[in-house]
Amino acid sequence: MADLTVCVGNIPFANPVIAASGTFGFGREMRNFQNLGRIGGICSKGLTLLPRDGNPAPRVAETASGMLNSVGLQNPGFTSFLANELPFMIDLGCRIIVNIAGNDPEEYLEMCRRLDATSVDAIELNLSCPNVKEGCMLIGSNPEMIEKLVAAARQVTKKPLWAKLTPNVTSIADMARAAESGGADAVVLINTLLGIAIDRKLRRPILRNNIGGLSGPAIKPIALRMVAETYRAVSIPIVGVGGIMSGNDVLEFMIAGATAVEVGTANLIKPTACQDIIDEIRAIMELDGVSEVGQYTGTLELWNG
Ligand code: SIN
Repeated sequence: MADLTVCVGNIPFANPVIAASGTFGFGREMRNFQNLGRIGGICSKGLTLLPRDGNPAPRVAETASGMLNSVGLQNPGFTSFLANELPFMIDLGCRIIVNIAGNDPEEYLEMCRRLDATSVDAIELNLSCPNVKEGCMLIGSNPEMIEKLVAAARQVTKKPLWAKLTPNVTSIADMARAAESGGADAVVLINTLLGIAIDRKLRRPILRNNIGGLSGPAIKPIALRMVAETYRAVSIPIVGVGGIMSGNDVLEFMIAGATAVEVGTANLIKPTACQDIIDEIRAIMELDGVSEVGQYTGTLELWNG
């Protein structure tokens, strides 16, 4: 029987498949399609201290092998989340990761302090949303700011801290090193790549925000390269994200160096994606004769010369 369990830092997961932030809400709709107790975990939609309506529509556009979004962190606000969504999520029976996005460092710290008193399994510091003007990617594209924020968060919570990083930088490995130096327990990569979609007839961008973040299979080779580079740069676990559609994709990310993965855009195409991917991993492990899924992690051998 294939053993799919993995540990991200000290937290054991039943399997390496986590639903990515922003593609699964708080699990309410998705529980109608699959037994969420079977997936490794769910990462909440990105939360801000105050409620946000998000960016004006249109805020999604389909592209070749992917999609652009400029949602702009629409969410009910942190206080409402704690009262109305978190109790529901905790009862789902899988690991719960909460993605937080501050306008400034103090907002991140305020949310970390308040999450410390809850039973969430980890906090994902969103240092990478490309669709807002404050916080997030502004912090996440500066290694000094990443290190400082993670170190400050470390002081206010004992919860595992995962830093979700942006690919819109010259060296994501430098950003991961900064997160590790600040005391992050894991890095999550990659968030979306900045892009633009154009309506030829209107001669305008399709997204009302002009630019958005590209996700889906189109970005998988970039994400794999960044995971492989980061694996050689840090010793904390990597949670790989970017265009994962199948069990085979998950194992490629693990070979590149990921301990676990987040599945995003696939959930929007097929609401049973996470569950199906877990079944596919099990079937592939049997074909490969691999008994523990962790045996794939970091086994990539680069060609020399
Ligand atoms: C958004 O809400 O704009 C996307 C969130 C993210 O990329 O972190």
